[in-house]
Amino acid sequence: MAPVTSLTDLVNQRLTDALVSALPETDGADPLLRRSDRADFQANGILALAKKAKANPRELATKVVGDIVTGDVIKDVEVSGPGFLNVTVADRAITETLAARAADDRLGVPLKENPGVTVIDYAQPNVAKEMHVGHLRSAVIGDALRHMLDFTGERTIGRHHIGDWGTQFGMLIQYLIENPGELAPPSQVDGTEAMSNLNRVYKASRAVFDADDDFKERARKRVVALQSGDEETLKLWQQFVDESKVYFYSVFEKLDMEIRDEEIVGESAYNDGMPETARLLEEMGVAVRSEGALVVFFDDIRGKDDQPVPLIVQKADGGFGYAASDLTAIRNRVGELDATTLLYVVDVRQSLHFKMVFETARRAGWLNENVTAHNMGYGTVLGADGKPFKTREGETVKLEDLLDEAVQRAAEVVREKAQDLTEEEIQERAAQVGIGAVKYADLSTSPSRDYKFDLDQMVSLNGDTSVYLQYAYARIQSILRKAGEAKPVAHPELELVAAERALGLHLDAFGTTVFEAAAEYAPHKVAAYLYQLASLYTAFYDKCPVLKADTEEQKENRLFLCDLTARTLHQGMALLGIRTPERL
Ligand code: ARG
Repeated sequence: MAPVTSLTDLVNQRLTDALVSALPETDGADPLLRRSDRADFQANGILALAKKAKANPRELATKVVGDIVTGDVIKDVEVSGPGFLNVTVADRAITETLAARAADDRLGVPLKENPGVTVIDYAQPNVAKEMHVGHLRSAVIGDALRHMLDFTGERTIGRHHIGDWGTQFGMLIQYLIENPGELAPPSQVDGTEAMSNLNRVYKASRAVFDADDDFKERARKRVVALQSGDEETLKLWQQFVDESKVYFYSVFEKLDMEIRDEEIVGESAYNDGMPETARLLEEMGVAVRSEGALVVFFDDIRGKDDQPVPLIVQKADGGFGYAASDLTAIRNRVGELDATTLLYVVDVRQSLHFKMVFETARRAGWLNENVTAHNMGYGTVLGADGKPFKTREGETVKLEDLLDEAVQRAAEVVREKAQDLTEEEIQERAAQVGIGAVKYADLSTSPSRDYKFDLDQMVSLNGDTSVYLQYAYARIQSILRKAGEAKPVAHPELELVAAERALGLHLDAFGTTVFEAAAEYAPHKVAAYLYQLASLYTAFYDKCPVLKADTEEQKENRLFLCDLTARTLHQGMALLGIRTPERL
């Protein structure tokens, strides 16, 4: 399928051509076209161009208008105000472009011309620890970005850089050796049991560790055994990892998110490469020895008293940490996975870490002009009261409890609305609505901003929520079912009323919106688009009888608008990782 050129792009091209013929020296002039309430589009670019050319803007605008080809796509164009252009497009052009979009499986969303390989680092919880709302954000945003990038033709590879290494494992493993049987084999537990076992072991081992200096010493020796690859120690370490994975998978499943085992490549996977990373950095002079440690300094990164804050590649005791694993991961992702883009979806509070890691990798040549690295640092999840999200007792909120509560609240909403559903159907939809609500609330805010986790607001039927979008979708499906024999058919010869044109012009913008949102890593732009789509659909539905339209052609054409709206909602929501149930 050839890509569908949007009306905005067509009009833009016509205007640009006219501008260039009116002012031949301004090549590459931008008419600055946007949707407008006054006409279909307004172009404001002439003002700046006139200023540059020292011409009168209204006169220039009038001259441009004379040069614009009209009659097919553009029905009418006039000068307004100091030199704006108001453009009205032909009804026929709207319906014809929409028909072309409808004929395309991709709804006219363009594919990237030169797709690359993006390695996306997201959904990275820590072994033997409960997942929290921060991990939720990474998973939700990362999953949406991945769908969006894939859809525009980019090849994505996921990397779940789980925290599966570190000194705390000495304590955990030593405890398990001294208290065998405390962790049931992973195959015998579900996610909740796995986590509660891990929690118990964590707390118990912590208590012994804090109280008993001999144990502390044994735990320290256990770290050394782990690092030197002692077989028994590694086996027990693996048990913690496997037990945690049972838990992770249960949460990801609840989140309705596909996570592939081969993409769970945690910190430990880079262990073998870390000494080499350190050696290379030292040889190149990128890292230097300072008080025994191997570190990298930066001119612009300073802490208290203007002291430079270094990135620690290797500690004085020879141990490697978070930075070494991330640097080694970069070598692997660029060198072995052939990444052209490295995308990290990690809390904004780690942005200094990534700034230093990226700069180090650049100095070492592991990042160069062929590879870009970007951290999508996301903001904090706040409680409904706007304060950091905690339970009433001041503890961090368990992700699972939160998701369960969202589903439960959604069940109330679904039950109230749909009297004729069985209890099983209610539960199934409640899961789709509740999880959708959580994802949408997250994704409809710009990732860099904090957002409030407010369940009341999230599952509300009114306002900018996924439930509102899901209802719009289900309502359309119900109309399509009721239409019986009547099918959606585009009739370009028909005149359109204002609500149809507004809906149609918005549908036409889907391709550009998705393409740009993917390029900018901005899922919230897709969310905003969909919300507006549902709102315009509601306005259309209020004003334009569909099944009771005046003529058969009009009915078919309106069914066509309904159908394309539904498909667009479905596709858009799928990009955000949210389901659209056929009935609600
Ligand atoms: N596990 C880390 C945490 O919970 C996030 C890992 C982010 N990814 C990375 N490559 N450092 O904070």
